[in-house]
Amino acid sequence: MTPADIPVLALDGVCRNFGALRAVKDVTESFQPGELNCIIGPNGAGKSTLLDLICGTLPVTSGSIAFGEEAIHGLPGDRIARLGIARKFQVPTVFESLSVLENLQVAAAPAASATELERILGTTHLLDDREVEASALPHGKKQWLEIGMALAMQPRVLLLDEPTAGLSVDETRDTAQFLSELRGSVTVIVIEHDMAFVRDLAARTLVLHLGEVIASGDFADIETNDLVRDVYLGRK
Ligand SMILES: Nc1ncnc2c1ncn2[C@@H]1O[C@H](COP(=O)(O)OP(=O)(O)OP(=O)(O)O)[C@@H](O)[C@H]1O
Ligand SMILES: [Mg+2]
Repeated sequence: MTPADIPVLALDGVCRNFGALRAVKDVTESFQPGELNCIIGPNGAGKSTLLDLICGTLPVTSGSIAFGEEAIHGLPGDRIARLGIARKFQVPTVFESLSVLENLQVAAAPAASATELERILGTTHLLDDREVEASALPHGKKQWLEIGMALAMQPRVLLLDEPTAGLSVDETRDTAQFLSELRGSVTVIVIEHDMAFVRDLAARTLVLHLGEVIASGDFADIETNDLVRDVYLGRK
């Protein structure tokens, strides 16, 4: 294999049990450099747990996770973050008393230039808010700031857990648009329940159900998959 053929992230037989509950069952999936990916599935399907396993918040019960050619399962979360996997949790955690730009500066990788931070402000629709104290931002822009802070770490993989929770219809559409624009620069894996958002992303989509990937492919194909309709979409 040439380096270009190596996925940025590869999960092989990944399992996670909580006592008798098999929350993630034998997941084998790979993610390509710069690819936009979406994970959907019913509540309790194991979506957040899967991200916890990738970023090292939780150890795997069995299986392996490779970041490029390096095995990362078993490494502490801060080490995995420094290798280049950034995670945004569902609840925004920004530094409330700092300005938008200062928040980006605090989060930034040493190599992130002022120009790079400007670019991130543009991507996340925060150019006009750079001097605004984070505590004064509306909820939607706090979510975007946190995505910006994750981008400022210059990760190769960005994990987002329900980034549109609590956002308006317009903010949700803007989020899908700017995540689409990240294609080619960073691998994004985003968990979502909002089907309008998932349709707008038009990303490679994995469907998780009872801890297993039951379908994967373009969302357009996923949407018409009978099994997916039965376990998830059809219930909406
Ligand atoms: N720390 C934990 N201890 C015990 N059980 C857990 C723990 N974390 C998650 N679970 C269980 O594992 C299963 C998967 O949970 P998970 O949070 O990954 O689902 P999810 O797909 O993210 O759901 P949602 O869409 O509601 O966020 C659920 O049955 C949940 O109750
Ligand atoms: Mg979840």
